[in-house]
Amino acid sequence: MISKETIEQVIARNDIEDLIGSYVTLKRAGSNLKGLCPFHSEKTPSFTVYPQDNSFYCFGCGAGGDAITFIRKRENLDYPDAVEFLANRAGITIVRDESKGSYSPTPKYDRAKMLKMNVDAAKYFHSCLFSDNPDARAALDYFVNKRGLSVATIKHFGLGFAPNSFDVFSKYMLNKGYTYDELVAGFLCGRSEKGKYYDAFRNRVMFPIIDASGNVIAFGGRVMDDSKPKYKNSSDTPVFKKSRNLFALNFARLTCQEAMILCEGYMDVIAMHSAGFTNAVATLGTAITSEQARMMSRYTKKVIISYDADEAGQKAAMRATKMLTDVGLEVTILKVPGAKDPDEYIKANGAEKFKALLESSKSRFDYNMDNILAKHDISVPAERIKALHSLEKLISETYSAAERDIYIRVVATNLDIDAKSIKSDVDRLIRAAAYNRRKEESEKIKQNTVGYSDRVNPDYIKAPAVAKHEENVLGFLLLFEEHRKKVFEGGLLSEDDFFTDLSKRVFSYLFDCYQRGEDYNINLNDSFSADEVGRIIKMRLSRMAMTDNGDTVLLEAIESLRLSVRKNASKTNQSLEALRELLNNKRETKNKENTNEQR
Ligand code: CTP
Ligand code: MN
Repeated sequence: MISKETIEQVIARNDIEDLIGSYVTLKRAGSNLKGLCPFHSEKTPSFTVYPQDNSFYCFGCGAGGDAITFIRKRENLDYPDAVEFLANRAGITIVRDESKGSYSPTPKYDRAKMLKMNVDAAKYFHSCLFSDNPDARAALDYFVNKRGLSVATIKHFGLGFAPNSFDVFSKYMLNKGYTYDELVAGFLCGRSEKGKYYDAFRNRVMFPIIDASGNVIAFGGRVMDDSKPKYKNSSDTPVFKKSRNLFALNFARLTCQEAMILCEGYMDVIAMHSAGFTNAVATLGTAITSEQARMMSRYTKKVIISYDADEAGQKAAMRATKMLTDVGLEVTILKVPGAKDPDEYIKANGAEKFKALLESSKSRFDYNMDNILAKHDISVPAERIKALHSLEKLISETYSAAERDIYIRVVATNLDIDAKSIKSDVDRLIRAAAYNRRKEESEKIKQNTVGYSDRVNPDYIKAPAVAKHEENVLGFLLLFEEHRKKVFEGGLLSEDDFFTDLSKRVFSYLFDCYQRGEDYNINLNDSFSADEVGRIIKMRLSRMAMTDNGDTVLLEAIESLRLSVRKNASKTNQSLEALRELLNNKRETKNKENTNEQR
């Protein structure tokens, strides 16, 4: 059990607006905030945050709850882990026992010590790079001669070398006072099935990952030949989340107010910084996440995507463009001509040429238009039409009407077609897309809430009318202390008055909390799954939307619930009767057949 004080503190210290705002771009809508739901895909915001009662609810998919529910779902953590996550986030030291769920006064890993461990590791790897043995000399040779890095650049980025050994590194670290447990948690050591520990990085050149505050939080290690895997990267650790950090942000944050360059590889970033483009960053071995995009939007206004020139790189660039424009960043795309990646391009052509490329980097529209025009010979009518259709589709995907107008004129000139007819095509595409989107979203809503399958309350479909009445009554109880008092003290309802399992559980949970004199919100997440919490929030909200929540309406609602339960029970009895009859008939026929066979 987590103490009531802990939960209260965790909720109070994690402002829900700020917490959810770090995952979702929220816009103010009256006293609430709205955004695109992080739990299902949608184009029109149905995800709402209610700062007054510290809750959220998505009218699209039915996800809802408090800060703890949000983290359970978003970070995919179980209840105690979600509480711990939020406690850490707010700088509250709570604190877990080995047996899950119970808390004691020492944290499992001391953040400061874990960070110090990474610094010591980085220093060790760095000094190994300059040590005097053949392996180390090969590593330094790789950086300096193969990759053309100066010693100054190597020092600037703190690059290093992990020796070709299973234990020299860990022996060194144990000596410094770190435990195997800490080394494994920090992804610096691994543990075999037989329980033997080994150094995680061996015979690799090392790239320390440093966060914006200058902490060494993780490592990437590259082989020096063509062997696989090319990179080994730290997985998430108590001090590192790869989806929430960027390589070289510690430097780039100082010069990126106007624009930031986003690359694919560590080596691209290093080449750019040493050529003077110190606003370059890279993701950490994964495609860019929306968290990274939001983070970038806090540092800069514009992102120039400079990925590898191959098809995979260009596809990834398109996906990144979407992610970044969605958070309000201006985005342009740069493709290096005649080189596999920016690193190779800069080495071959120098900083000046790259600067010119940067300046001519294109918007998503220009970039795609050039690709489309290059693909079709527009002097051939059929090809010209194909190009037109592709371009119209591209324009229809542009959000701003003013921008669309400009693009329409550009295309009209390029293809020598009347702008008016292009506009009417584009408008039609926009309407069709909006229609499909609405259809898709409403399908999803149907599937997620009620209908033939209700994941959250599987009994719902057995008796939808009853379930509706139940939710209505529970809404009253969730919303008003005075109604709880009336119903519980007057014995107006019991668990048996409910039909679906979820409603039974909600009722008896509220009853228990009432008897103990506890706020039911405190242990909601402990007693219900994250999806069930969503359903509970929905019951509360639907009742809140009603104008009359007085006694009479409550009593009527209870009456209707009773009636519908009774009606359903008799229906069930009837169908049971019918089933029995059917079975008896079958048995009789079967018996007859058997007797016939015996003859
Ligand atoms: N990456 C990875 N694991 C791999 C390959 C790539 O984590 N097996 C990540 C690394 O973060 C790498 C980035 O994807 O920096 C880009 O990959 P790639 O272009 O292959 O690597 P570069 O760093 O550009 O290396 P190089 O130029 O030395 O080939
Ligand atoms: Mn590369």
